[in-house]
Amino acid sequence: MAEQHVIIDNLVKTYAGAQKPSVDHVSFSLPRGEMLALLGPSGCGKTTILRMIAGLIDPTSGAIRVDGKDVSSTPVYKRNMGMVFQAYALFPHMTVAENISFGLEMRNVGRAEREERVNKALDLVKLTGLGARKVAQLSGGQQQRAAIARSLVIEPELLLLDEPLSNLDAKLRDEMRDEIREIQARTGVTAIFVTHDQDEALSMADRLAVMSNGRLEQIGTPRQIFDRPQTEFVASFIGAGTFFEGEAVEPGLAVVDDLKTIRFTGTAPVGARVKLMIRPHRLRLSEGAAIANTFKGTVEHIVYRGQILTMNVRCGKKLLQADLPTHAGSLPEKGSEVTLSVAPEDVTLIGEEAR
Ligand SMILES: Nc1ncnc2c1ncn2[C@@H]1O[C@H](COP(=O)(O)OP(=O)(O)OP(=O)(O)O)[C@@H](O)[C@H]1O
Ligand SMILES: [Mg+2]
Repeated sequence: MAEQHVIIDNLVKTYAGAQKPSVDHVSFSLPRGEMLALLGPSGCGKTTILRMIAGLIDPTSGAIRVDGKDVSSTPVYKRNMGMVFQAYALFPHMTVAENISFGLEMRNVGRAEREERVNKALDLVKLTGLGARKVAQLSGGQQQRAAIARSLVIEPELLLLDEPLSNLDAKLRDEMRDEIREIQARTGVTAIFVTHDQDEALSMADRLAVMSNGRLEQIGTPRQIFDRPQTEFVASFIGAGTFFEGEAVEPGLAVVDDLKTIRFTGTAPVGARVKLMIRPHRLRLSEGAAIANTFKGTVEHIVYRGQILTMNVRCGKKLLQADLPTHAGSLPEKGSEVTLSVAPEDVTLIGEEAR
């Protein structure tokens, strides 16, 4: 196995007076240069993990290893972590350059070198020439980039970003996603990025760590997390889908609710309980030809969204979610009877190991 840069080992945090841990035996590791997204619903422990790595709070138990050395009891200022936290805004009374330079002054870097490194950091985040401005004279996106420059200028061991884009509007957020990704790739810094936005995580990260209730549910590439979710929680947190529970009656065939059968690709022992999921975009309108999995039903709800048509189709007790491309001739309407189909390889067997 390649040498890991950062190892989070069985980390636990129980806040004083709390009944249960906010972070509950979490372990993961990052190779050098990786960008990991820490993802999960509000309150699942993302910020708590980041604050322990940064050294702002102490773990109840467990270790944080950087290059093999346990830093759990190293004070913040000796850990050399770059932090961009939404709540830790720039110092408003200082100029942009003074903000960026601050960490270098704390580290007793001489004036000439400071200036050079601040200018380089400004170039890196495309704020060249704006060093003399006051923070208030920057747009939201520029302030965010100045905050990133401030965290990178110290050449951090690890870059920690806690929802750095959550206060930006949608368009700026998209641009900043690309920019952060590009800056991270160019500097090669190992980074952990907290978000509760699945699109952000899927599009920015090399790997995703999905958390729920203080625990790590699954860690993997965007593709593994999206196509091979290990738990129903991960499957439903990352993207929509219709879920089925049933029993594998022969290899690749399950009997699910209301005695319907579904073919799937994947290995589940005969007789095992299985959970299956069909993503909305995997369903298509079927025209007669019997394909393995067909569902006849009535369109209960339909929304035209330009490129796709989002429908809820009632099939017995199940409400199927389907997204259809809108280029296909005549489109179904509310109340239409439709037949949908899905190929066995497009049915996700939840809990199956990533292939
Ligand atoms: N200082 C604290 N004292 C006591 N409990 C805390 C403290 N900080 C956080 N918690 C609790 O720990 C849990 C995890 O909080 P945390 O801030 O890590 O969540 P998060 O995943 O970052 O959520 P969000 O997406 O809302 O930022 C929550 O239940 C929260 O109420
Ligand atoms: Mg948080």
